Amino acid sequence: MPPALPLPRLRTVAVAAGAALLAKRALRRRIRKSPLWPLPALDEPISGRLQRRSTTGRRLLVTERTSPADGVVRLRLEGPDLPAWEPGAHLDLVLPSGLVRQYSLCGDPADTGAYTVAARLVEDGRGGSREVHTALHEGMEVEVRGPRNRFPLTEAPAHLLIAGGIGITPVLPMLRRLAAEGADWHLLYGGRSRATMPFLEEIEKLGAEGGRVTVVPQDEAGHPDLAAALADTAEGTAVHCCGPQPLMDAVAAALPPGRTLHLERFSAAGTDPADAEPFEVELRRSGLTVPVAADQSVLAAVRAELPHVPYSCEQGFCGTCQQRVLAGEVEHRDELLTDVERAQAMLICVSRCRGGGRLVLDL
Ligand code: FES
Repeated sequence: MPPALPLPRLRTVAVAAGAALLAKRALRRRIRKSPLWPLPALDEPISGRLQRRSTTGRRLLVTERTSPADGVVRLRLEGPDLPAWEPGAHLDLVLPSGLVRQYSLCGDPADTGAYTVAARLVEDGRGGSREVHTALHEGMEVEVRGPRNRFPLTEAPAHLLIAGGIGITPVLPMLRRLAAEGADWHLLYGGRSRATMPFLEEIEKLGAEGGRVTVVPQDEAGHPDLAAALADTAEGTAVHCCGPQPLMDAVAAALPPGRTLHLERFSAAGTDPADAEPFEVELRRSGLTVPVAADQSVLAAVRAELPHVPYSCEQGFCGTCQQRVLAGEVEHRDELLTDVERAQAMLICVSRCRGGGRLVLDL
């Protein structure tokens, strides 16, 4: 139990909390009076190829910014007529610089007036999380696309949920759903320390009955015992996991037979350089041919010659890097293009040439 605060200090804390609440209400009133409200869906995006991708975008307002753990910000994004979503869904955020990043929805699907996302600052990342942390503030407008769901909560007699760090974000709405339904579930939640693990208080409350939550802060208890947790599951259990790639690999390796595994990855499947071969790309309009090394993307090889070629997510999600293919057999490694689109185009940040041959691009 924390020590009681002396009366004058208690008064100061209460006054500060009241002032923060009033400021937040004032911001909401200001936002609702703004000519931007209600906000239209975006219908006049930039041009050509990007236009097709942007037509589902909409501009939302950041109405709340909080920090649920060290190094993590949570944003509440409000707007009218928001499409419904289910646990496991994510949103594309188009950041002010034009970067597109994916963030899982961690709010309540019943809250139809807002989407909530959380982002951990990755110091040595590619810049997306830094921009979320430094450039998105209450009262600002941000473009979003989606939501989309590649990680739905599946029907099963029992559920084991495994989350590492910020990987808890898509899992949290699943927990709420399972707890509300009285389902048979267990969560294994690992992180560097309790201070860096978001939503701990709510999660521990959800699992208070029946010891359904195992929290493993690395600085107190080391790494989670995945093998023991998986061995403890009954046949038919659905295992949902989101976190760093090594965690997901370890879960996949230790999965006993008779359980189904569902992974949320924010990198395109099949991008392991170990299964890639070098090949050549001809840039027909530029009159250039560039070699693409086994551990290099077509995008990187092309930008070495044509630095203006656009890109954003570099993970096969946003479509910014899409290019027309004039010849060659493409090995598509994205999850975005339709079969019709694949017949004539590729996402050069992830897709490659099948069999190490030669591709010809309309560039
Ligand atoms: S850069 Fe986003 S799909 Fe290639």
